[in-house]
Amino acid sequence: MSGNLLAISDLHIGHPENRSIVESLRPDDPSDWLIIAGDVCERFEDIAWVLAVLRDRFAELIWAPGNHELWTHPNDPVQLRGVERYQKLVELCRRLGVHSPEDPYPVWQGEDEQLVVAPLFTLYDYSFMAPGATTVEESLQIAHDSGIVCSDEFLLHPDPYPTRGDWCRARIELTERRLGEIDPSLRTVLINHYPLVREPTRILRYPQFAQWCGTELTADWHLKYRAAAMVYGHLHIPRVTWYDGVRFEEVSVGYPREWKPRGHRTWLRPIKGPAAR
Ligand SMILES: [Fe+2]
Ligand SMILES: [Fe+2]
Repeated sequence: MSGNLLAISDLHIGHPENRSIVESLRPDDPSDWLIIAGDVCERFEDIAWVLAVLRDRFAELIWAPGNHELWTHPNDPVQLRGVERYQKLVELCRRLGVHSPEDPYPVWQGEDEQLVVAPLFTLYDYSFMAPGATTVEESLQIAHDSGIVCSDEFLLHPDPYPTRGDWCRARIELTERRLGEIDPSLRTVLINHYPLVREPTRILRYPQFAQWCGTELTADWHLKYRAAAMVYGHLHIPRVTWYDGVRFEEVSVGYPREWKPRGHRTWLRPIKGPAAR
């Protein structure tokens, strides 16, 4: 009997109501696995609390970083930047027994299929350019002129890479190598804070924000790496869409001002298993 592969993202527990949501999360079955697709919160200590609590409750816990975990926030005693901060988060995962993008991908055993569950960290390179822009510089300028600028520009440092785009390209290269090593007879569940294709960003209220939401470099990964499903967050627009026959699940909780008007819903999204049928 196999359990469920469940997913959630954008817990943002800096908001007390969202902390209560985390406290309420329980598996349906003791064998359920949980995926967290980034944006747990900003403070290292709070991230550690969430991962420890949920690691205790679920059979396996899989985490991919969001931009908020990677911020060097002035209120966080952990002031590491960029790659060093990411590495400290990976060490935390290893200590707690949480699967991060830096360790072998676990294989989930369903009733009739094995799936490689792959948390990814690919960041963005501004290639989801603002309408009217032909270069990354123009795209950023359009955003600054309109006043719609992601806080990452001030808080997510790419050190030691010169830019976030450089960090993204290095991550893409490394991640493609890892995904290419997966047994080609197995399908995958790809998990990334950002959607692997641009289409989900088309409904953003501010299209100039899309440049902080992924990269064109992953546009064919759902096909190339045999995704049975792609799990993402970041947009705070929970929904299911299909691209090339592949199910994309945006599983975010989001901020209280976003989820409260939507009314009560089940927070854990079934990706595979009995609850997903
Ligand atoms: Fe978020
Ligand atoms: Fe995010």
